[in-house]
Amino acid sequence: MKLEMMTRKDETAIRALFTECHPGMAERPRRWFQAYPTLVASEDGLVIGFTSFSVSAYTGVPMLGGQDLCVRPGARGTGVGLALHLERCAIGQAVGARMFTGLTTEDNHAMIAIFKRCGYHACQAVPKAFGEQDGVVWLGTL
Ligand SMILES: CC(C)(COP(=O)(O)OP(=O)(O)OC[C@H]1O[C@@H](n2cnc3c(N)ncnc32)[C@H](O)[C@@H]1OP(=O)(O)O)[C@@H](O)C(=O)NCCC(=O)NCCS
Repeated sequence: MKLEMMTRKDETAIRALFTECHPGMAERPRRWFQAYPTLVASEDGLVIGFTSFSVSAYTGVPMLGGQDLCVRPGARGTGVGLALHLERCAIGQAVGARMFTGLTTEDNHAMIAIFKRCGYHACQAVPKAFGEQDGVVWLGTL
């Protein structure tokens, strides 16, 4: 598996994978991938996963925010999601981020397994964060 920063040629495959991972969710705005850096996992030239993220100052502490983490259904459960998450953390750390925050639903067991493995904790429920479904904010140190 290769992990590389996204280029324009990846955008169609990434948008298709987003829709496959989040059926029913609105497509990301046209310029989304200009606003958020995105890492792509590929195998034999095929996109098998991606993650978008951001770095911002939160109460004065540089923080890495997870925006998306998507893995092709046929490639799940083989460590691709964890590898993408750890690589975005490494990028955040390299520019001084000290904390990570991400939002998921309480039934997203794979995402929660990744957060727990990294030592993060659930800290706040967010009503209707995903349409009608509530979200939970996870937080941890990098
Ligand atoms: C969440 C997602 C990215 C995880 O990707 P993945 O490549 O399957 O994850 P990994 O193989 O790296 O597994 C990471 C951990 O999740 C666990 N896991 C994987 N699938 C699981 C499942 N269905 N139920 C419970 N745990 C699961 C693994 O055992 C592993 O935990 P461990 O390290 O304690 O053994 C993937 O399921 C996905 O794309 N889901 C749809 C999109 C989505 O919900 N994204 C997150 C939005 S917040």
